[in-house]
Amino acid sequence: SAEPDRGRDLEGRRVLVTAGGTREPLDPVRFIGNRSSGRQGVALAEAARDRGASVTLIAAHLEVPPPTGVTVLRVETTAELLTATSAEAPLHDLTIMAAAVADYRPVGVADGKIKKAATGERLTLELVQNPDILATISAEPRTGRLIVGFAAETAASPEELLELGRAKIARKGSDYLVLNTVGWTTGFATADNSVTVLDASGDIVLEASGSKTSVADDILGVFAAALTGAP
Ligand code: CTP
Ligand code: CA
Repeated sequence: SAEPDRGRDLEGRRVLVTAGGTREPLDPVRFIGNRSSGRQGVALAEAARDRGASVTLIAAHLEVPPPTGVTVLRVETTAELLTATSAEAPLHDLTIMAAAVADYRPVGVADGKIKKAATGERLTLELVQNPDILATISAEPRTGRLIVGFAAETAASPEELLELGRAKIARKGSDYLVLNTVGWTTGFATADNSVTVLDASGDIVLEASGSKTSVADDILGVFAAALTGAP
């Protein structure tokens, strides 16, 4: 690869990455989902592996193949992602929640395929809020391990992005929040990316842009240093 060699600063560390997007079933053949491709999470898992980490990837519908040499756990729904992440996070030095988690799910799953009503009639779906996985795992007592959230925002300006990010990390209680802007032409399903990393007090600790691979490497540098207590 053309990326510079960052060394093996995650040697002996266990890194957990969630990637992709959760899907909430409506009936046996339909779901509510999102446009997350899983590329950023997969790039993070791959970069962590290359830096010497033992990596677990919790995959919620990836559109790209998972990297070789990492343990892959597959999940479908937010409930499954919560169960897997709650079990795995305490076993890892670094947990990165890169997955796009469905905020809502249908109140119930129909046993059979939902039939179309009379011509022109509307259909209303009732949704309930899913648990917040990042807030849940961040509320657990922890020492010597880090939890990182990702936030894709449709902010109008860098100032608004920062404001949204600071409010979000305060709400979640994670150690870091990686912020990026999304729209129809950036973020989801594209190769290039631009991110700002905030620490728990809302201060900017990194701004990086480029390929998802180089951004992943820059982001991991911050966490590798934090784990070793380096400045
Ligand atoms: N997240 C989570 N559980 C949820 C929703 C989100 O763990 N039910 C995680 C995501 O994996 C991500 C972070 O929280 O790491 C931020 O997700 P985001 O969707 O930006 O935050 P929300 O709190 O859902 O706020 P909103 O969608 O309204 O911006
Ligand atoms: Ca959300």
